Amino acid sequence: MSIQGIDEITYGAQDLDTCSRFFADWGLTLVDEAPQRRVFECLNGCRVVVAHSDAADVPPGVEPDPTLREVVWSVGTTAELDALRTRLQDQPGYVDDGERIGCTDPNGLAVRVQVTRKRPVVLTSAVTNTWSERRRINQRAPAYDRATPVEVGHVVFFVTDLAATAGFYEERLGFVVSDRYPGRGAFMRCAPEGGHHDLFLLQPPEPRKGLNHVAFTVRDLHEVVGGGLHMSRQGWKTELGPGRHPISSAMFWYIENPAGALVEYYTDEDELTAEWVPREFTPGPTVFAEWAIKGGIDGHTRRQVNAEAPSGRFMTDKPKS
Ligand SMILES: [Fe+2]
Repeated sequence: MSIQGIDEITYGAQDLDTCSRFFADWGLTLVDEAPQRRVFECLNGCRVVVAHSDAADVPPGVEPDPTLREVVWSVGTTAELDALRTRLQDQPGYVDDGERIGCTDPNGLAVRVQVTRKRPVVLTSAVTNTWSERRRINQRAPAYDRATPVEVGHVVFFVTDLAATAGFYEERLGFVVSDRYPGRGAFMRCAPEGGHHDLFLLQPPEPRKGLNHVAFTVRDLHEVVGGGLHMSRQGWKTELGPGRHPISSAMFWYIENPAGALVEYYTDEDELTAEWVPREFTPGPTVFAEWAIKGGIDGHTRRQVNAEAPSGRFMTDKPKS
């Protein structure tokens, strides 16, 4: 039994029009529209649903809207889904409609599992030249006018009982801990082989429940930057980014999301196997980000927000003072 990743997420929010404009700018494709529901897809078919807070068929959130109400994880086959039935059916909030099963995790979030509806995609990504490897020959590196995320790569929640919630994902869904903030956080991946984390659970010093962020996988660093610049030009606010996470090695850019909390473009996280030995870290700003730009980069001036705009001359053209 092996969970593969995230197949679908559902937000609960009041202002569907603003959320729709946001996710269109974010690079998702609107595939279905109803008065109380907008459905978007990433490149591989991973779905992002925004449901109105009054919609009757959406599970309750762990905090007031706007927030994430439901996460649907995927397996590869119906046999794996059958195996999970026996592991989840004694859990609180158990549901089973034949194609999608689930329950409520110890933090109160609706967790669902289905046979994946995502499609394989083949994409061209940037090739990097390093001192030891020259792989990009007679070819320019890409630049992106905007991002088109491949899928939802991970979700991050504030939890009030880290041990119980992490234990649920380990014991019931087969997740593996990649790294820890002892007593404070657990980076978890769906299976022994995979990206550094599909789920990060964070117990703040004053424990509370809620969404921290949803992260969307993009192809390469240049798409992180191109996507962040586009969001800036569209008027959306950067919380932090671009920057780099030292724990997972990923490059990131976080934007404030009208559907709840933050969304992240990220790329180049570490790929792990069963040989990986979990490490322990003490939380802190430089552990979270090796470096980062607070408030982001202005999409028009291409300089950090609030910095002096370039005058049209090179810095070196400035007269000596
Ligand atoms: Fe993240």
